[in-house]
Amino acid sequence: MTVELDFAGKRVVVVGGTSGINRGIAEAFASHGAHVAVASRSIEKVENTVAALKAAGAAQAIGAAFDVRDADAVTDGLAAFHEQMGEFDVLISGAAGNFPALAAEMSANAFKTVIDIDLMGTIHVMKGAYPFLKRPGASIINISAPQAWIPYEGQSHVCAAKAGVDQITRTLSMEWGIEGIRINSVVPGFIEGTEGADRLAPEGPARKMVLDSIPLGRLGNLQDMAGTCLFLGSELSSYISGTVMVVDGALYQRGGGQFGQMMGDMLRSMPKRNKG
Ligand code: HXC
Ligand code: NAP
Repeated sequence: MTVELDFAGKRVVVVGGTSGINRGIAEAFASHGAHVAVASRSIEKVENTVAALKAAGAAQAIGAAFDVRDADAVTDGLAAFHEQMGEFDVLISGAAGNFPALAAEMSANAFKTVIDIDLMGTIHVMKGAYPFLKRPGASIINISAPQAWIPYEGQSHVCAAKAGVDQITRTLSMEWGIEGIRINSVVPGFIEGTEGADRLAPEGPARKMVLDSIPLGRLGNLQDMAGTCLFLGSELSSYISGTVMVVDGALYQRGGGQFGQMMGDMLRSMPKRNKG
């Protein structure tokens, strides 16, 4: 069987698309001929990514710097993308922030920062893009995390935020589904060479523990994530909506294992931040 994916003439927006997993997704759509727009806070990262998208073969590559916590800035940025590109066929919302921290040692602002980026950012991006989504046919992909359903010590903020992201996926798949818009979440496992994996499981005992737990015997990579998003952005998945697609080498069939406990023990052994 041969399956060819052609995104020529398709408009793809990737928010948080200037590094790691999301940039890999943006580059994959570019290499399949799409028009691609990326956004994040840093204009340097945006410019660097736009150049890479052009080199990868994008029909058009544009970018803008905005913070997903600022609803007005998101709305303006996405309106500018619409003006330059036309209606969006695929929207990927993947901006996120994460740091390991015990709840008792996080300030209210620390907890809120992750809620604001991951959860509020997701709804800002979706609502900002809503007027510009192609109907019928648009596909929205929210980048979630295993924390959405697996509780880890040191991750209460991310667990709360990403659980909310998946519930937004499910509820809006109904509210917007009647207009022909599909919405799914993608959950990366541990993806090698990324900020998220380095923050949570740096090289050493933590990384070894993760690797040893993955039934498929390897960490995930950028191609694993990009391939899933190409599928969800294409007509191959035209009847898939409201799902949470886990791309983790079967890691989380084993639950959280000892990993969260190890992170909790590590954080408890460090000097307290006294932010409670
Ligand atoms: C406790 C912390 C902290 C820490 C920051 N804070 N780091 N509290 N422990 N380690 C507190 C600060 O003291 C402050 O509270 C509040 O959080 C906001 O911090 P700022 O530095 O002012 O925030 P900001 O500059 O907006 O940066 C946001 C950020 C940062 C989330 C803190 O790390 C960031 O920009 N991250 C983006 C990149 C990223 O995180 N990538 C990984 C995504 S991976 P006070 O009270 O002092 O004001 C992921 C899932 C991975 O999401 C899953 C793997 C399986
Ligand atoms: P990353 O490289 O840190 O990517 C985060 C992206 O979001 C960057 O482009 C960053 O650019 C942007 N961003 C961060 N805060 C933002 C804000 N407030 N406003 C706008 N843009 C913002 O992270 P990653 O590890 O590849 O993770 C990407 C996604 O996968 C996240 O949603 C994460 O939760 C999820 N995930 C990752 C893993 C993993 O193994 N890495 C596992 C599970 C889930 P700027 O700094 O320029 O803003």
